[in-house]
Amino acid sequence: MEAVVLAAGKGTRLKSRLPKVLQDVLGVPMLAYVLKTLKSLGIRRPYVVVGSGANAVCSFLKICENELAIRPRVVYQRQQHGTGHAVMMTQRHLRRHSGDILIWPGDMPLLQAETLKRFMRDHQADGSAASVLSALRIDPNSYGRILRAGGRFYAIREELDATDTERRIQEVNTGVYLFKSRALFGALKKIRPNNRKGEYYLTDVVEVLSRERQPMAAFPFASSNEGQGINSRQDLAGVMHIMSQREIRYHQEKGVTFVAPEQTVVAPGVKIGPDTVIYPWCYIESGVRIGRDCQIGPFAKIRKGSVIEDGAQIGSFVEIARSRIGKKVFAKHLTYLGDAVVGANTNVGAGTITANFDGKRKHMTRIGKQVLVGSDTVFVAPVSIGDRAQTGAGSVIKKNTRVKKGEVVVGVPARPISTRKKRS
Ligand code: UD1
Ligand code: CA
Repeated sequence: MEAVVLAAGKGTRLKSRLPKVLQDVLGVPMLAYVLKTLKSLGIRRPYVVVGSGANAVCSFLKICENELAIRPRVVYQRQQHGTGHAVMMTQRHLRRHSGDILIWPGDMPLLQAETLKRFMRDHQADGSAASVLSALRIDPNSYGRILRAGGRFYAIREELDATDTERRIQEVNTGVYLFKSRALFGALKKIRPNNRKGEYYLTDVVEVLSRERQPMAAFPFASSNEGQGINSRQDLAGVMHIMSQREIRYHQEKGVTFVAPEQTVVAPGVKIGPDTVIYPWCYIESGVRIGRDCQIGPFAKIRKGSVIEDGAQIGSFVEIARSRIGKKVFAKHLTYLGDAVVGANTNVGAGTITANFDGKRKHMTRIGKQVLVGSDTVFVAPVSIGDRAQTGAGSVIKKNTRVKKGEVVVGVPARPISTRKKRS
């Protein structure tokens, strides 16, 4: 099977300087989700049709090559005359392909591999020349409607070209199709841009094939959530919400408490241990790992590259970035820890920050075990603080300082004054 991802559109309705498929969805461009799902189906070399912002899209595809082990094949659509026109651009590569061709618009990141598998299975069992993945929507506005006569699927009508009766239809086109190559390219030759937008609609291929009595089917397997496309900023917000709530449900099933799930954002690819409680208004980025029995928030931001070990408590207005926070560390109020490693049982006083950026580069802060960090301490990185050390309230630890094990330092800049006794 070959796959074509349509990614040449500008996304006019988003009014952005970025091409649509590069819009950020919880930390990565929406196109990344499509490519990852294709990879999970074993499709590593999809054709990606690019046009608007082609350079930016191609640079992103290069990153995908390196980071996701996907090797997309780029096809240019220099001017965007519609989805049908976009697919015409792939004809050179795919006309002779004997298997099926999967088409997926790059602005639909929520579709899940399981749904696609079922769609592929039924398409093959059905032996149809063209299959459309449809969804039932309470509000079908702005989607192409699935037209059926006596149950038999025969056409897709775009919203702008639909009659009032057709507009009431709630079965919509997700924009995902499976075609036999010959049927697809044969029919594409026959479509015309005589519609309200003056574009070559890929959806018109269906009507051509229907007239030729080719076998066709529409499978309403996509839930209205996963069939959600992104055309506006409202759609974009809707997709991020659905995605985050999907992740939260997954973590709930694994034993994590969310005090206010609707007020919490969790990106895909996060790990959280059981009996951890996430308080309201937290933002947890992709790749973060949080252990068991932790407490996070309210109002915490846990950024990429962070690991929070078992039993740690990250409280209100705390931001953690690219840091490893050890077991039972408490950082409960108004703190920023960036590029830091904090050992087990350390207490980070309110208002503590790592000054990790010198204007050019980021530097590490290493804090040992059982350290008592006084309120309002500033760590000007790079610094390292030995186990059981203590910093006084308001102290500034100058860069390149090494505070020894058990040493107590105070002041601006901080100087040693005594040594802490070892706890029994
Ligand atoms: C399309 C479908 C509609 C369906 C909806 C699902 C058509 C005519 N309509 O409408 O039936 O319900 O998707 O979300 O196909 N693109 C190109 N080149 C172009 C035009 C578009 O590559 O010349 C790409 C876009 O980047 C986008 C995708 O194709 O990723 C879909 O285009 P879009 O303009 O969003 O189509 P819709 O109006 O949403
Ligand atoms: Ca769309």
